[in-house]
Amino acid sequence: DIPADIACCHDYERYAEQILPQPHWHYIAGGSGNESTLKANNIVFDKFGLQQTLLPDINQINTRVILNSERHENPILVAPIAYQQLAHQDGELATVQAANAQDISMVLSTLSSTSLEQVAQYQTSQPLWFQLYIQPDKEHTYDLIKRAEQAGYTSLVITLDAPINGLRNREQRHQFSLPEHIQAQNLQPYSQSVSNQAATGLSSQQVMLSRLLAQSPRWKDISDIIANTRLSVYLKGILTVSDAKKAKELGAAGIIVSNHGGRILDGVPTSIEMLPLIRQAVGHDIEILCDSGIRSGSDIFKALALGANSVLVGRPVIYGLATAGAMGVAHCLRLLKDELQLTMALTGCASISDITIDKIRLP
Ligand code: FNR
Repeated sequence: DIPADIACCHDYERYAEQILPQPHWHYIAGGSGNESTLKANNIVFDKFGLQQTLLPDINQINTRVILNSERHENPILVAPIAYQQLAHQDGELATVQAANAQDISMVLSTLSSTSLEQVAQYQTSQPLWFQLYIQPDKEHTYDLIKRAEQAGYTSLVITLDAPINGLRNREQRHQFSLPEHIQAQNLQPYSQSVSNQAATGLSSQQVMLSRLLAQSPRWKDISDIIANTRLSVYLKGILTVSDAKKAKELGAAGIIVSNHGGRILDGVPTSIEMLPLIRQAVGHDIEILCDSGIRSGSDIFKALALGANSVLVGRPVIYGLATAGAMGVAHCLRLLKDELQLTMALTGCASISDITIDKIRLP
């Protein structure tokens, strides 16, 4: 059941902390290094204020956006999060059903604990996207892409910022390891391959860095994928103007400005600080999505005002999942949608295109 004292999606965090086994909690909540980027993600949104519009002449709020030529009822996607069965036994199947019920698309991780084919069976109204970790073996990468195409996924989100795992001090301190019954189901067919270890995202500190680096993707691999899939490709983990320009040159449908929720290189900037610079540099003929630290409807509003077409939400969804399964996910997403609509109403924005930079107060 949904606890009665949950007023905003962020309130799920304290329930998740109580419910989850401690190592699992630290794996999900933690960041890399001393977590300075993670901390910054949580406070940066407060630096931007909002401008209220008094007595706006609005009858209805419309939150629809077009992404990848598809209609999305909300400028919100569920971020790719690995191993969701760590949070709740229903895992990704609960998340996809709840997201669908709220008219929100889910991006399924390569490292999902339920196979991409199984998740696709539950997809109904909203488009499903697949997040790709490029595999050490090229054949496996292309097989994953083919499977995503065949299962009906419409976009491929290629994550670029995690060629090797971050320094997960907190995970190590709390001795997190993946329970035996939870596995990267999509990679099972390739599990004979020894090199597969590198892409599990879990044991990097024990695996030799040089081997990982030798196997990690190059820009050429990305342009080859863009040329060889009919899925639209979004490049995730972009935080600099030069990488954003490169992504545009390669023909990506969109870029995802993200610091991976502060989990890879501690010290990189927040997405929200880089977003306006990146938008200015790449112009308006490429989509920009943004994540890392979005916790409320007004955070979403600020990201849109600073140039994003849509946002992704990570941990809050997983905290909802841990607390109350599919109900918790649906409620968490519902709260975000309601808050966004309320913010739009009070700032005089009837539709997403009305959310412009003058609606926020810059630091
Ligand atoms: C992630 N993230 C992630 N990203 C990705 O591309 N593939 C993945 O498998 C995962 N797995 C994953 C697991 C966990 C436990 C977390 C918390 C995050 C990053 C994720 O997609 C997203 O970028 C961040 O979670 C966004 O930040 P917030 O919303 O969690 O602050």
